[in-house]
Formats: sequence, structure tokens, C-alpha cells
Amino acid sequence: MIYIIFFGFVFISLIFVLGFLFVYLYHDFKGAPFVGCDPNVIREAFKLVKANNDDVVLDLGSGDGRALRIAINDFNVKKAIGYETSPLPIFIHYLLNHNKKIKLVKKSFYEWNPKNEMPTILYLYLLPKVLEKLTLQIKKAKKINPNLKIISLVFQIPEMEVKQTIKTYHRGFKKEVGIWLY
Ligand SMILES: C[S@@+](CC[C@H](N)C(=O)[O-])C[C@H]1O[C@@H](n2cnc3c(N)ncnc32)[C@H](O)[C@@H]1O
Repeated sequence: MIYIIFFGFVFISLIFVLGFLFVYLYHDFKGAPFVGCDPNVIREAFKLVKANNDDVVLDLGSGDGRALRIAINDFNVKKAIGYETSPLPIFIHYLLNHNKKIKLVKKSFYEWNPKNEMPTILYLYLLPKVLEKLTLQIKKAKKINPNLKIISLVFQIPEMEVKQTIKTYHRGFKKEVGIWLY
């Protein structure tokens, strides 16, 4: 009996670990792994755009929702919306985010249509190859709303005119990283 329980436990743990690895590697392969940003870098980014209670934040690839939480808790923004497709970050998002002002859209960010859902602050922490694929959508959003404040953390958006850049220390990377405002 004890062997059945032991092997049952090992088997379930293995399934769990393999499932986690699959989800992680799948998103890594697709170009945007779930790596949450250093909260201090996120705060500096929202300070840069002077986020306030008139703002609606949109985070494309919101992970565990940390940027949404910081926007609501530290900057008192009106609403914070995240797009996320990966099951593990979505699971963690539901564990950590209970504020009604935070909305999670379980859709790919490539489906985001700025005509239907226009924030005042677009927050991006994504790899260059993903930013490149999103550039047309981002440019379209800026064209529809020229006042849209776009912040990109650590990586630059290609072919976009930069308004301001700051550098700040990222504890995870143990070095200074850039934040770009467009
Ligand atoms: C680098 S993390 C950023 C997490 C969070 N925004 C932050 O600043 O801490 C990128 C996130 O994008 C998500 N992602 C990848 N491809 C996606 C897609 N097509 N649609 C929505 N989210 C996606 C990943 O699951 C991951 O959580």
C-alpha cells in the first residue's frame, strides 16, 4: 500500500513538473517567457509617465499581474487591464489580484484591438522580437490616440520615436536597465 501511495505521489509530482516545464518552454519558444519585472523598475516607469487616477493602464503580457497591482495600489489608477495567455501566470494572477479595478483578458495580445480597448498608458515588458511583431498595433494605437503614453521596460520598441529615456537599477539583472517613453 505504501508503495502505491509513494509512486502515486511521484507520478503526480512528475506530471506537475512536466506540465510546468511545458507551459514555460512553450511561451519561451513563442517569444515571451514569464519573467516578472523588478517592482522598483515598474514603479520608476509609472513615475516617468506620472500615472494617476485619470489613467487606464494596459499591460500586454501581464504575467502574475504585478504591474497592474502596482499601478492600482501605488498610483491609484482608474483601471488596470492585462492580456495573458499562459496558464501558470493566469493561475498566480487569480491568487494575487482581488481588486475590482484589475481586469484580466485571457487572450493573446496579438488580438488586442486599440479601436475597442484604448488605455491612457500602454505598459510593455517584452522581448525585442515580440515588440517587433507588436509594432504595427502599437503605432496604430498611437495614431488613434496621440496622447497615449507608451512605456517599454528593458527593451526598446523598434521604429518608434522616443520622447524620453531613463536608466534605473534592476535587482534581478544586477545592472541598470532602460525605460523608454514614446
Ligand atoms: C516578460 S513577461 C512580463 C510580465 C509582466 N508584464 C511584468 O512586467 O512583470 C511576458 C508575459 O507575456 C506573456 N505572453 C507571451 N505571449 C503572449 C501572448 N501572445 N498573449 C498574451 N500574453 C503573452 C507571457 O506568458 C509572460 O507572462
